[in-house]
Amino acid sequence: MAVRQDTIWERFLSPVVRLLIDEDGLQRYADSINWEEECDRFRRDDVIIPSYYSSQNFHGITGGYLTYGAAVTYDPITQYVVPPNEIIVRQALVDAVKVKPRRILDLGCGTGSTTLMLKQAFPQAEVIGLDLSPYMLVRAEDKAKKAGLDIVWRHGNAEKTGLGDATFDLVTASLLFHETPNEVSLAILRESFRLLVTGGQVLILDGNQKTLRQLEWLNDVFEEPYIREYAAGSVDANMGAAGFEAVRSQDVWWINQITSGVKPIITENVRQYTATSIDNNLEELGSPAFGIMA
Ligand SMILES: C[S@@+](CC[C@H](N)C(=O)[O-])C[C@H]1O[C@@H](n2cnc3c(N)ncnc32)[C@H](O)[C@@H]1O
Repeated sequence: MAVRQDTIWERFLSPVVRLLIDEDGLQRYADSINWEEECDRFRRDDVIIPSYYSSQNFHGITGGYLTYGAAVTYDPITQYVVPPNEIIVRQALVDAVKVKPRRILDLGCGTGSTTLMLKQAFPQAEVIGLDLSPYMLVRAEDKAKKAGLDIVWRHGNAEKTGLGDATFDLVTASLLFHETPNEVSLAILRESFRLLVTGGQVLILDGNQKTLRQLEWLNDVFEEPYIREYAAGSVDANMGAAGFEAVRSQDVWWINQITSGVKPIITENVRQYTATSIDNNLEELGSPAFGIMA
């Protein structure tokens, strides 16, 4: 049987980062939450957890994202491992928005770090963060509440969200695709295409595929089961295959990339965006974004 080698993170980085992290404070935070009760507020019976996700220990955490440990440790660690700086990299995605979004969907939103920045940049927009992990959503909601931001958090699979056709002007995903097999990334892009209005924009922020291919060791920093598959692929090509046009990737500090695509005006089954007034309770609006929610 093959024995897993310790990652670069486990061997060298983790001991250093542990010195910088207030582990007692994190434990106190974790203990202050009744996780199962909080998660139950988000869990949806119609969400089927895919096996590529439940079978892996992302970042070496047993149980991966379906644990409160993942939700509590994600931000303290991420701040040190997205060079040159997490905020700069996430801001590059916000700066790449070319539409005036009335509705934004952030897929694989995790603890909501990018989602919060999108809401801050586009305060008039209805913003929804969607993730497979209710634990991550509990953390995301807590952050949004503390920041006074009105964001809807939804348990769901980005491959099949259950949200209505042509209901978003902007669909984003940050740091998601290096954690999904290629066919799942493609399915997520096809779903994004369906969800966008014509002229709507998709933005994918993630590791730089060229750099990951050149610097093989970067793929061994964390336990990332699908990162080699991600590095070998092309987000540009997948976007094209999903039907997007004006597909462009830009490097973000060499180690990250942002890929943008636009849903072309001439497509089959074009449906126009239905404007609704902005209100705090989205579901009461009869908004098309919630048209087929249970
Ligand atoms: C590395 S984290 C990125 C989180 C966040 N977007 C960020 O930028 O920090 C990947 C997230 O994607 C979620 N995820 C993975 N596959 C997903 C899927 N098919 N649908 C929805 N969320 C998914 C995981 O639960 C996790 O929260």
